[in-house]
Amino acid sequence: MQSISKNSAAKTVILGTGGTIAGTAEAGDNIGYTAAQLGVAQLVARVPALAGVPLEVEQVAQLDSKDMDFATWRLLAQRVAFHLDRPDVGGVVITHGTDTLEETGYLLHRVLAPARPVVLAAAMRPATALLADGPQNVLDAVSVACHPEARGVLAVLSGAVWVAGEMRKTHSYRTDAFSAGDAGPLGWLEEGVLRQLRPWPVARSVGLAPLERREWPRVEIVFSHAGADGRLVDALVRDGVDGLVVAATGNGTVHHEVEAALLRAQAQGVKVLRSTRVGAGAVLAKPGDALPSAGTLTPVQARVELLLQLLEGAPR
Ligand code: SIN
Repeated sequence: MQSISKNSAAKTVILGTGGTIAGTAEAGDNIGYTAAQLGVAQLVARVPALAGVPLEVEQVAQLDSKDMDFATWRLLAQRVAFHLDRPDVGGVVITHGTDTLEETGYLLHRVLAPARPVVLAAAMRPATALLADGPQNVLDAVSVACHPEARGVLAVLSGAVWVAGEMRKTHSYRTDAFSAGDAGPLGWLEEGVLRQLRPWPVARSVGLAPLERREWPRVEIVFSHAGADGRLVDALVRDGVDGLVVAATGNGTVHHEVEAALLRAQAQGVKVLRSTRVGAGAVLAKPGDALPSAGTLTPVQARVELLLQLLEGAPR
């Protein structure tokens, strides 16, 4: 039976935020369920292999992650930082919904860039499903959090260990619903043993201070698509938007009317980032590009990046 290595007396703190992993349904329904019903202590109790492992649990939020908001992000980042500061804590696990996992993962990666592991655990099936994936994912996340060399913000689903800042949800139903495009997973967790493919992530943190600002900037995402025009961008600028991410076509190309509107917005002080609506690959920047590239970030991660840049008050 898979067990957690007992080579460390350090505690793992498991923070609950809701999601399908905490969801329940009648009669094993895989899609007609309600997310965020079970508390984090109940999720842990469903994993017998965690009995005897030094753990602490805390319910930070209880929501369907489609409803994730700034206040919850701020609180979550603060609670993670609090626990990571404790000398008796080796790592933190966060149970979370899959729908906005790539946004929360990227936010925590940028604000914490921790030297110890912060591992997101999620599930594509509710806790009441015939083949619930949550208990194994929680156990695997704790295994990674207890790994003596682990560091950075990671996520574990379906046996794959992801660098949270790189991953994206790529399937709406399957339990192996995530990808990191060309980067691939950091490794695979097999019976509690990590088969590591590449080094632990090292990142530069912006710190928690930007999140403490009372008012968060308004950053919206617009799509470039066939038949698009600039009216949506112009309306958002009139409405006081602070930042715009364009989910562009291909290698960051933008419909000429949307591009003209984004250039007008930029000239008026609105910060713009160009990401791609394609599911993998980067926006490769060229000299003289008028609209800055978001690199490999998904549109929703680029939005988090722009929020942080605006909160910091200066470009990275
Ligand atoms: C959620 O994101 O909270 C619901 C969906 C999921 O976790 O898969």
